[in-house]
Amino acid sequence: MSAQLPGPVMVASGCGGTGRELEAFAGAAGIAGLHLVTRSITLDARPGGAAPRVAEVPGGLVNAVGLPNPGLEHFLATELPWLVRAGVQVTVSIAGATLGEYADLARRLSRAPGVVGLEVNVGAPDDAGTGLFEVREPYHSASVVAAVRREFPSDRPLLAKLRPDVSRIVEGARACHEAGASAVVIGNSVPAAFPDGRAGGLSGPAIAPIALRCVAAVRAALPDVPTVGSGGVRDLASARAYLDAGALAVQVGTALLHDPTTVARLRADLAEETP
Ligand SMILES: Cc1cc2nc3c(=O)[nH]c(=O)nc-3n(C[C@H](O)[C@H](O)[C@H](O)COP(=O)(O)O)c2cc1C
Repeated sequence: MSAQLPGPVMVASGCGGTGRELEAFAGAAGIAGLHLVTRSITLDARPGGAAPRVAEVPGGLVNAVGLPNPGLEHFLATELPWLVRAGVQVTVSIAGATLGEYADLARRLSRAPGVVGLEVNVGAPDDAGTGLFEVREPYHSASVVAAVRREFPSDRPLLAKLRPDVSRIVEGARACHEAGASAVVIGNSVPAAFPDGRAGGLSGPAIAPIALRCVAAVRAALPDVPTVGSGGVRDLASARAYLDAGALAVQVGTALLHDPTTVARLRADLAEETP
């Protein structure tokens, strides 16, 4: 089970649009070499949730975007070829309503040229009514990972993206790793509410200490399980905290919505600090 990733910084799922949105801010260097996790792709197109989908709160954002995406066929026909031509390293995030849907997505993406790896989204706050396969217990996440791994070659990266649940994260990480995940991404947005009480997920600097605690807990209990930190990464210090806690890489989400050059800057800062 390979956890080889193209580098220590990735664009978090759903926060880099289709990739074209980032290109507009990339300057002369372009987006070649960028490691982008796509927004979660489902078999059928999804229009996403009702507006407003995002609200700014102190320390971050609350979102309930509802996983809008064009569906697998359209993604394979248009978005993926564009990203591959642009030289982007593409990890495809997948989400399904059933284990069969996850398996189908994995089978078809395993044959798609240019896909570096898959990330299974088993950590979205589900009280926002996503209609996804219900993940409440570690064995639910593990059954998704197993269904995907059966269809996706064992030498290619398969990331399991878990919610940063401080009480169950070690069990979740262990179950996913045993089921075939090359690494666990910790975590997703944290269940929260919009100011009007609607359910959503909190992201941004406010959740960094929660995800960091989970990364550290997994590292301590399961030193052989590679982790990727996701939550509030916005600069060298916030990325370093995850890397120093043992994470193999970090993902940048909300910060990109404020400054689309964050990933390029962070990659340069990390490269510069190497002695
Ligand atoms: C607007 C928005 C859309 C997102 N869409 C997805 C998605 O499609 N799939 C997914 O797994 N995570 C999604 N996420 C979660 C992010 O990938 C990330 O894990 C989370 O926001 C925490 O990182 P951050 O604090 O850097 O944003 C989304 C987050 C935001 C803010």
